[in-house]
Amino acid sequence: MSAAAEAVTDALRELHTRFAGLRDGQLADYIPQLALAEPDAFRLALISMDGHRYSTGDADVPFTMQSVSKPFVYALALSVLGLDEVGRWVNAEPSGEAFNAISLEPATGRPDNAMVNAGAIVTTALIPDTPDAPGFDRILDCLSRFAGRQLDVDEQVYASEAVTGDRNRALAYLIRSAGPLPVDPVAAMETYFRQCALRVTTLDLAAMAATLAHGGVNPLTGVEVVPEPVAAQVLAVMATCGMYDASGDWLLRVGLPAKSGVSGGLIASGPARFGLATYSPLLDPTGTSVRGRAAFGALSERLGLHLM
Ligand code: DON
Repeated sequence: MSAAAEAVTDALRELHTRFAGLRDGQLADYIPQLALAEPDAFRLALISMDGHRYSTGDADVPFTMQSVSKPFVYALALSVLGLDEVGRWVNAEPSGEAFNAISLEPATGRPDNAMVNAGAIVTTALIPDTPDAPGFDRILDCLSRFAGRQLDVDEQVYASEAVTGDRNRALAYLIRSAGPLPVDPVAAMETYFRQCALRVTTLDLAAMAATLAHGGVNPLTGVEVVPEPVAAQVLAVMATCGMYDASGDWLLRVGLPAKSGVSGGLIASGPARFGLATYSPLLDPTGTSVRGRAAFGALSERLGLHLM
C-alpha cells in the first residue's frame, strides 16, 4: 500500500473510532420509516480519482438517498437543458433557510436554488418524459451511472414519505400557482419522493461524489455520466447551497462542496482528488448527520482538504 493510501486508511479508521461514541442528534421522524434507522450506525467511505475504494463500518449496507439525490438530478437537468434554461426555472443563490422553507422569489415563485426542497422539486419536474422513458426512469438511469451500478427504490420509504409529505406537496402547489413548475404537482411529487427513496450504500455515495470530483467521469467504470462543465456547475451550487442554512459555516470550517440528507447520508467532493461519504442517521437541527459533520471536519483538518 502506498503512503498516501495508508494515510487515508488510518484516517478513516481513526475517525470511526473517535466519533462512533458521539450520541448527539435525533433520527428524522417526519418520514416515519426513517425513524426505524439504527442510531449507532456509522460508516465512512472514500474513493480516489484512480478508483481506489476505502471504507470502514458496513459501507455496503443500503439506506435511502433523500436530499443527497438533489445535486445528481440537478446535474441531469443541466446536461439535458443547459445552465441558462435551468436557471430560468431555478435560481442558484443560497437561501439561508431550512431545507423545507418556502424559499421562493416573491415576484416569480422561482426557487432560490436546487438544493432546498422547493428547488429540487422543480429540478425533478424539469426532466421530461420521453417516448422511451418516463422522467423517473431517466433519473434512475443517470443516478445509477453516477453510482456505477443499478440502483433501486426502497418502496417502504417511498410509501412512508408519500403518505406524510404534505409540506412538500404544498410547496409544489405554491410554486405552480406562481408559474415555475413545468408539470402537474401530483406527477412531480411522485417522481421527487421516488428519487429521495433511491437506495444506496456509503460506497455508492462516495462513487457519486467522486464522479463529480472527476469532471463527470465515474472513476470506477470510466463512464462519462455528465459533461465536465456540468460537474463543475453542480459542485459550485453544492459549495454555496448544499448545506442549506449551514452552508456558510460548512464552507468556512470544512471547505468542500457537500450535500446532506435526512436519512443520515452526507457527501463531499474534493475536485480532482476524491469523493467522500458518511452514513450515520442522528441529525442536527439543519438535517445534517452529527457524526458525519464531525468526521468531515476532522478529516479536512487532518488531510488538509480545505479548498481555500
Ligand atoms: O423532501 C424531504 O423532506 C426529504 N425527502 C428529503 C429532505 C432532506 O434530506 C433534507 N436534507 N438534509
